[in-house]
Formats: sequence, structure tokens, C-alpha cells
Amino acid sequence: MQAFLKGGTSSAAAKEKTQSPGPSASGTKSQKGKDGKAKPVPWIEKYRPRSVEDVAYQDEVIAVLKKCIQGSDLPNLLFYGPPGTGKTSTILAAARQLFGPELFRNRVLELNASDERGISVVREKVKKFAQLTAGGSRSDGKPCPPFKIIILDEADSMTKDAQSALRRTMEKESKTTRFCLICNYVSRIIGPITSRCAKFRFKALATDILTSRLKAICEAEGVSIEDAAVDALLAASGGDMRRAIMYLQSASRLCGQDGTISQSMIFNIAGVVPEDSLDQLISTCSSDSYEELDKVVKNVIFEGYAASQILEQLFDKVVNMNTLSDQQKAIIFEKMAHTDKCLLDGADEYLQLMALFSTIMQQSCHGS
Ligand SMILES: Nc1ncnc2c1ncn2[C@@H]1O[C@H](COP(=O)(O)OP(=O)(O)O)[C@@H](O)[C@H]1O
Ligand SMILES: [Mg+2]
Repeated sequence: MQAFLKGGTSSAAAKEKTQSPGPSASGTKSQKGKDGKAKPVPWIEKYRPRSVEDVAYQDEVIAVLKKCIQGSDLPNLLFYGPPGTGKTSTILAAARQLFGPELFRNRVLELNASDERGISVVREKVKKFAQLTAGGSRSDGKPCPPFKIIILDEADSMTKDAQSALRRTMEKESKTTRFCLICNYVSRIIGPITSRCAKFRFKALATDILTSRLKAICEAEGVSIEDAAVDALLAASGGDMRRAIMYLQSASRLCGQDGTISQSMIFNIAGVVPEDSLDQLISTCSSDSYEELDKVVKNVIFEGYAASQILEQLFDKVVNMNTLSDQQKAIIFEKMAHTDKCLLDGADEYLQLMALFSTIMQQSCHGS
């Protein structure tokens, strides 16, 4: 049992380790490698909000959670919304504020999609953790809620059966345990669970929030960045702050200490397909030559661009093409949807792109 608890909380504990040192504390013991050099910390951990007040833009959620923290109580929670909007950060911060840094490790069980979360795990691990009773005091004398928190990150990847098993545990252990489920799509969580949780929607972050956060990180890290590169980050990340920060860190490594991060660096790192390649693909579609198309498609694939990325960028292009009628665009979009599904299912990129661009070719040259 004890072994399980150690195992179960290790991911939370590991996070805690990387989280505790702020930008100014990079010289602390846990941050130093054997050679005495500071270990590089991923910026997404380094700049993860420490308290719920630090979480930007999710005002409604934060207002409710603040009240809960003041009253030392928490309902069962269900957070949903697009990736990189602060869901995981918010519950970790709230738990840390509720329990303090010491108890946090013992009181929080964090399971995400990488952990086995089938029905047997819910029946055994989650249930066992839930059944442990928790005391109501903290070593620093502050009141501490007498419950534990189980965080089920990416809960939409849990099977329906596992969710049903969870529902029973949630009900039985409600005195000693609070659950926090986190997912992207609330529709994948079964009704009986959603009705037992307070639901909170996390909004996609506004561009000005993203911009100011990214600039603040650049300042704290002492890297300079062009304004165009910030815009490129926003475009390439699609509002996902985690992706934006990851790209930023890679770019800063790429350009070194004294360089300036440029727009093209970001596009390179993010694997964005250059405009010319995309334009070439589209213009080839009006050539009505299958051989030409074959050459160009092979070319982009050899360049290493992902078909899903081409699809994403192609969408905007096709919407704005005035040589096609609405009906023709509809046919193309339907094909794109089909292609997207096939790519997700692991189909061959070359064949899928050829099929898609052949449809566009046919619509451009022979469509009515
Ligand atoms: N609302 C927010 N306010 C501040 N930082 C955020 C916010 N949303 C995301 N981030 C940043 O993005 C990173 C990933 O956030 P995370 O909470 O893991 O997203 P999610 O769980 O919603 O996918 C965090 O480390 C944090 O730096
Ligand atoms: Mg998350």
C-alpha cells in the first residue's frame, strides 16, 4: 500500500520538485547537476502558475476556487477546455495552496493518460487511495482540509467502464476524497460523473494574454525576440500556451545567448509549411497534370512537412480562393475532413495528400 502511494504520488512529487524553484531560485540544491551547473528546467514547468491567482484569463474559475480555498473545502471538479489553457496548473496550484508544500505530496494522487487507468486501476488504486483517511492539521498550524484530492488528468481517454467504476467510488468516498477530472471534451465524460462535479470551462487564451506572458518569459530569461516572431508563435501555437512556450524555449536554444529570435526560426521549429510551398501545391492543382502534382507532393513530403500541418494551413487558403465556387469548396472540405480522419488513423501521408490534391485538381479544372 505504502509502495503504491509512493508510486502514485511520484509524478505529483516530481512536478513539485521542478515547480518550487522560481526563476530566481535556479541555484538551489535540487536544481544542480553533479558538475554543479544548473539543470535546464523546461520553461513550461518553470513558469507554471504557483497560485491560482497567477492563472491568467480564467476569471470565473479562479473566483470560485479562491472562495473554496478560503473555506478550506472543494467540490468534485471537472475542468474542460482546449489544451494549454491552464487546467492542470490550476488544480495543482489550488491543491498546493490547500495543503501546503509538505502535505501536498501525500494528499494528492495525480494520474494522467500515461498511467494505466482501466477499470481495475480505478477499482484498486484509486479506491485504496480514496479510502485512506486524512487528518485536518498542517505542520505550519494553518487549517488543512480533511480530504485528499485525486486528479485524473486527460480523463476523456478513460474507458466508459472505468468511468462507471469511478462514479461509484466518487459517491462512496465523498467524505474523504475530492476528485478533479480534467479533459478536453466534456462530451466524452459519462453523464453520471458530470452531474456529480462542478463543471468549469477553460477558455482559449486571448492573444494579448499570450503575448504579454510570452514577452514576460523572454524578459525573465534575457532573450530578445522580434515582434513578428511573437505573432508567429501565436499563429503556430493556435492559442495553446504550452506549445507556444515550448517553441519559444527551443528557439532560444537555437539562437544562443546574444541572438534575436526571428519569425523564420519559429516557423522552422513549429514545422510550419512555407507559403511558397503551399502556393506551389495549389497552383499545380490548376495544371491538370497528375505527374506534376506527384512531383510537388513528393517534394513537400521529402522536405519533412507533416501532412496534418499542410491540411491545417490549406484550409485557410481554400476558404479564400475566389476561383472556386462555394459548392466546389464544400466538396474539397469534405475531402479534407476525410483525409484528416485517415491521417489520424495512421494512413500513408503521400497517398492521402495525393488523393486530396487530386480532388482539388479535379474541382479546379473540371468542376462546375
Ligand atoms: N491561464 C494560464 N495562465 C498562466 N499560464 C498558463 C495558463 N494556461 C497555460 N499556461 C502555461 O502553459 C503551461 C501548460 O499549462 P497546463 O496547465 O498544463 O495546460 P492544460 O492542462 O490546460 O493543457 C503552463 O506551464 C503555464 O506556464
Ligand atoms: Mg493538462
